Amino acid sequence: MELFEELESVKKQALTEIDSAGDAEVLQQLEIKYLGRKGLLRDLFTQLGSVPAEKKSAAGQSINQLKQLLEEKVTGKKETLGTPVKAATGEQFDTSLPGEKKTVGHFHPVYQTMTDLSNIFVRLGFDIARGPEIENEFNNFDALNIPADHPARDAWDTFYLHNISGSQRHLLRCHTSPVQIRVMKKTKPPLRIIAPGKVFRSDTPDPGHFPMFHQIEGLMVGEDVSFAHLKGVLNLFIKEFFGPETKMRFRPSFFSFTEPSAEVDISCVICNGKGTGCSVCRGEGWMEILGCGMVDPNVFKTVNYDPEKYTGFAFGLGVERMAMIKYRINDIRLFTENHLKFLNQF
Ligand code: DAH
Repeated sequence: MELFEELESVKKQALTEIDSAGDAEVLQQLEIKYLGRKGLLRDLFTQLGSVPAEKKSAAGQSINQLKQLLEEKVTGKKETLGTPVKAATGEQFDTSLPGEKKTVGHFHPVYQTMTDLSNIFVRLGFDIARGPEIENEFNNFDALNIPADHPARDAWDTFYLHNISGSQRHLLRCHTSPVQIRVMKKTKPPLRIIAPGKVFRSDTPDPGHFPMFHQIEGLMVGEDVSFAHLKGVLNLFIKEFFGPETKMRFRPSFFSFTEPSAEVDISCVICNGKGTGCSVCRGEGWMEILGCGMVDPNVFKTVNYDPEKYTGFAFGLGVERMAMIKYRINDIRLFTENHLKFLNQF
C-alpha cells in the first residue's frame, strides 16, 4: 500500500476507535497502539525512508498532522474518561494500603530568625540592602574610621584573601558594617536600611563562637536623626522580638565608626532580670545583645555626606545570638551540625 493510502486508513481507524472507547483503560491501550513508542504512527515515520524525494516533505507533514490530531483526540477523550485505575502493566492498585506520609520541610532556625528580625525593621520603613561577602579592606575597615595601624582592627580576627588584583587587599567581611559604606556611596540621605548577611572571623569554634555567622546591620541618616530615634527604634524592636515585658539599657562602649557608641543589654530572659542565682546572666540580670551609636562624622566625610548637615544612627546585631537567647540554645555550633533532632524543634 502506498504511504498516503495507509495514512488515510490509519486515520479513519484510529478516529473511530478513539471515539468509541468506553473506558480509560481502552483509551490507554489505543494511545499505546497509535502513539506509543512502537505504535502505528512510528511505523509510518519509518516508511518515510522509501518515499521518493519529491514527496518526502509532504508525506512527513501529513504524518505529523495526523499525530497532532490523534494527540488532541486522546487528550480530549481523557477529560471525559479520566485516568485508568489499573496501571498499564496490569498491576492492581491496592486502595486499602496506608498512604505514604510526606514530611513537610521548614526554614532553618537561623534563616527564620533573620526573617523575623528583618520584618520588624521592614515594618518600620527600613529597606533591605545587601553587600558582598568578599569585601575590600577599605570598606571593611578604613572607611569605617579604622585605619591600618589602629588597635581596633585587632578586635576582629579577619580572614584575608591572597592579593589578586594589585594594590587593594580583599577579605571575608568580618561584619556587615561595610554595607553602610556601599549604601551611602550610592544613595543620598535621608535613608534607612538594614543589611542582613553572613560574616566571617577566624575564631576557633566553641559554644559561643563560630567562624561564620550572621549579622543584621542598621543605618538611618537624615537631617535631624538623634539618639532618641535610635532608642525608640531599638526599644520597639526588642519588645516585638523578645516580648513586651523585656527591658533594655544602654551601656557606654567604643566603636570607631560611631560616636558616641553604646552596647545594648536586655533584661535576662531566663530570670526576668532578677539576677540572683541565674547561671545564664551570671547573676547580672542583663544580657548583651548589640552594638550601636551615632555615625561618626569621619565616616560621613568618607562617603561625601556633609557632617554639619546630616546625622545618623547605626547598629549591628548577631542573628545566631538573638536565636540563642530567644530559643534558649546553649551552643552556636548546633546551627551548622545538621542534627535533625535539633532542627526539627523549630
Ligand atoms: N560591626 C560591629 C561588630 O561586628 C557591630 C556594630 C557596632 C555595628 C556598632 C554598628 C554599630 O553599626 O554602630 O562588632
